[in-house]
Amino acid sequence: MAENDGITPEATADYVPDFDISKPSIARVYDATLGGKDNFAVDREGAAMIAKYVPKIREASLDNRLGLIKGVRYVAQQGIDQFLDIGAGLPTMENTHQVAQAVNPNAKVCYVDNDPIVLSHGRALLADNESTVIVTADLRHPPSILNHPDVNKMIDFDRPVGLMIVGLMMHFHPDEEPGNWIRALLEACPSGSYLHITDFADTGYPEQKAMETSCIQALGNGWARTPEEIEAHFQGLPLVPPGLEFPTRWFPGEPDREVPAVEDLEPHQRIIMAGLAYKE
Ligand SMILES: C[S@@+](CC[C@H](N)C(=O)[O-])C[C@H]1O[C@@H](n2cnc3c(N)ncnc32)[C@H](O)[C@@H]1O
Repeated sequence: MAENDGITPEATADYVPDFDISKPSIARVYDATLGGKDNFAVDREGAAMIAKYVPKIREASLDNRLGLIKGVRYVAQQGIDQFLDIGAGLPTMENTHQVAQAVNPNAKVCYVDNDPIVLSHGRALLADNESTVIVTADLRHPPSILNHPDVNKMIDFDRPVGLMIVGLMMHFHPDEEPGNWIRALLEACPSGSYLHITDFADTGYPEQKAMETSCIQALGNGWARTPEEIEAHFQGLPLVPPGLEFPTRWFPGEPDREVPAVEDLEPHQRIIMAGLAYKE
């Protein structure tokens, strides 16, 4: 293991590492871009490679977090008290359960990630929080999520769910038809549920292409999508106004709010788009 890799004895107590540290992982590279310490040299090299193309990569990652926080807060304010957060990532500041529980202290959060390092670090963070669980499962195999006993202990699929797929869709090529996995998950969520997505945007700005190129170089994936392509992942559900937006301009439920013009945003603020849909 690399020196100063951030894995604490508490985190590894019940965990046998079976992850590949010879190449960068999405979770660890993202953690490195956010200034976290749960990453290895190979991940920091990946983050540095992205920074060559996107110098404000940290701010771009924080912008994605802004999209996460605004969406979770809105959904919690609508009375949703259980969240299924897929592609949860390594713990950072203002995690989903902290945002949701700030609105409703009884809100439950089930974190899902396919990278076991997230489980080990998440467990350490969540040890004292009975309303939160973290499981290793895979978006590409919806039954691994929907049939997971810990998911079913935390989430009651007879009641509305806040389904989150935040900062994850860019890692799948359109040929994988990732919309099918979302459809399977949505089918398990009753009416009154919300679907929350953030993704890399392609609206013609060079910084968007720079993010795509550098991520593909560093990780082998990280495709940007047009707003129409992102919207298609909502499976035809109506979007909460104002619809898909860059996080700085995104105030779900407040379509008339005055926001900065897209041209006035800084380049790193035009990389991610966020949206929320409501299942009627
Ligand atoms: C870029 S991070 C996003 C973290 C957090 N959702 C956010 O937006 O800040 C993407 C996360 O998705 C996880 N991931 C990648 N492929 C996945 C899959 N097939 N199923 C579940 N999680 C996956 C990665 O391990 C990583 O932790």
